[in-house]
Amino acid sequence: MPNERSYETAQKRSEQIAADLEKNPGAYRMLTGDRPTGRLHLGHYFGTLKRRVELQNKGVNTAVLIADYQVITDRDTTEHIQDNVYNMIMDYLACGIDPDKTMIYAHSAVPACNQLMLPFLSLVSEAELARNPTVKAEMEASGHELTGLLLTYPVHQACDILFCKGNIVPVGRDQLPHIELTRLIARRFNNRYGKVFPEVDALLSETPLLPGLDGRKMSKSYGNAISISMTAEETAKRIKKSQTDSERMITFDPEKRPGVSGLLSTAAICTGRAPEDIAAEIGMGGSGALKAYVTEAVNSYFAPIRERRHQFEGDLSYVRDVLAEGNRRANEIAERTLDEVREAMGMVY
Ligand code: TRP
Repeated sequence: MPNERSYETAQKRSEQIAADLEKNPGAYRMLTGDRPTGRLHLGHYFGTLKRRVELQNKGVNTAVLIADYQVITDRDTTEHIQDNVYNMIMDYLACGIDPDKTMIYAHSAVPACNQLMLPFLSLVSEAELARNPTVKAEMEASGHELTGLLLTYPVHQACDILFCKGNIVPVGRDQLPHIELTRLIARRFNNRYGKVFPEVDALLSETPLLPGLDGRKMSKSYGNAISISMTAEETAKRIKKSQTDSERMITFDPEKRPGVSGLLSTAAICTGRAPEDIAAEIGMGGSGALKAYVTEAVNSYFAPIRERRHQFEGDLSYVRDVLAEGNRRANEIAERTLDEVREAMGMVY
């Protein structure tokens, strides 16, 4: 199972694939997904959404999953789930995910995908599941008990990836244990019953993790995130409220000045400039000038995205159609894969 050495191996593989993708985009099927627990924010955008759109436009066969069953892994409610799902689709579409090229679906709507859970569960031991560090971290962060679903959802995630024979999964480092488990399940299934599933690799993000406005990990619960769906005014307000420090001279120093540096990182990623250069330019302008600069940077970058989003907000029936069509396509693929699985297992009656 994952350790530091496997991280390095995964990173090397990821770099090889990133290079090969340029030459052979058609050889890849990319699958990735999000939990519909709230609005997507700048961390999601620069961490993965932007890349998904690039891959989609390069001709990689792409699929985006709304992982609604994963919502109940570490919480006891599905409150607002429909609203969250529709809003997530609006975020996707606004950011450039094209439903003609990319299948967008919710795994609760794809029974044949979920049925893979049965044979897959037989391929892993309790000990292998129990040592997954991401599951442990999620359990601790949420204070939730280790339910059967929290323990086994990484197997369900393998169903998400393997039903459509995904072979690359763009993810952050925290997801590597799940990819490792998916590889294990595919390998064991193929060895036991005959080759049905592909070899899966993680495509690790090349951009460093964008911190929140206060320099801490970006998180909705810290109030340090800017959502894609915010208006320009809401964005300005959030930036204005963010904590800096009493030193007037602006410098980039993430260790000692997390607030100032979080703001600089945000401006840097939106403008494509180096945070040090922005700091030098603002200099003795202080946090007021810095915040004005960041607000302008974020709002001008996201203006066209937000304008597109606004149109989808007014056309919920289109958003519903996009999901219905994605679900339909996903079901077709899942049925086909499940047939292969039954056949490989001799369950043909
Ligand atoms: N676990 C992912 C997250 O927490 C979401 C997810 C579910 C996913 N299934 C997936 C990501 C399959 C990639 C591939 O964000």
